[in-house]
Amino acid sequence: MNVTAYDAIFSSIIGHEYDTLKLICPAATEMSRLVGEAVKIYSTSTKSLQIVELGGGTGITTLAMLSARPNLHVLSIDNEPVMQDQAKKHLQQWIADGHLNFCSDDALTALQNLPENSADIIASAYTLHNFLISYREQVIKEIYRVLKPNGQFINGDRYALNDTRQHTRAVQDEISQYFKVLIPLDRSKVLEQWIVHLFNDESQDHIMRESVALQQLHDFGFSDIKISDRINVNALVKAKKP
Ligand SMILES: C[S@@+](CC[C@H](N)C(=O)[O-])C[C@H]1O[C@@H](n2cnc3c(N)ncnc32)[C@H](O)[C@@H]1O
Repeated sequence: MNVTAYDAIFSSIIGHEYDTLKLICPAATEMSRLVGEAVKIYSTSTKSLQIVELGGGTGITTLAMLSARPNLHVLSIDNEPVMQDQAKKHLQQWIADGHLNFCSDDALTALQNLPENSADIIASAYTLHNFLISYREQVIKEIYRVLKPNGQFINGDRYALNDTRQHTRAVQDEISQYFKVLIPLDRSKVLEQWIVHLFNDESQDHIMRESVALQQLHDFGFSDIKISDRINVNALVKAKKP
């Protein structure tokens, strides 16, 4: 396994109560929907699309993609069994119909094991921001290698605002929202874990700042790099391998 300084947060209470994210951050569900939309409009070809998903989690983004168009196959990668087992349970029919397979390696190892020019789309939601910056850099490089020419990278994720003061205010609003939603539900333990996790996301080792992330895609050779649908600290990024 690659050295990821593995953050076991998704094996803890957050993994078991991942549905609370929908309550405290409705934008997360919206980003998965947008990833599905992006898959839908990727091309007008009726040829079967090979999609690689990084950090499939409980299957929310996976389902958005599987429902987007009939002719596709998703290889969903996640190295946290607590999360992936939920996706396997939720998406049994898609597995049975041959549209979905799983890989339990970490994202970098899984990508390194895939042939170059083999995927039409590499998609993800709320996964890359969890990576250490150095690990994320290697992942982006591998995404480029594995994509076919004209292939697309699609990521709905936390992209920190370039204006750092505005970003801090947005994160403060997020924390207020966590309390507003979870305290009346008497979920103080999961509230504590989401805040602990937020410190990870915001740390200098992890933060995925918009300008840096887009420049990195450019540096690795991507074209048509677009950021859209920003909701506070969340946004959709698309980029093409020429
Ligand atoms: C916040 S969840 C997102 C799940 C789903 N895409 C969604 O939007 O609900 C992030 C997922 O990425 C997985 N993950 C984190 N680091 C990973 C890595 N290095 N390799 C593979 N999966 C990873 C976690 O286990 C978790 O299931």
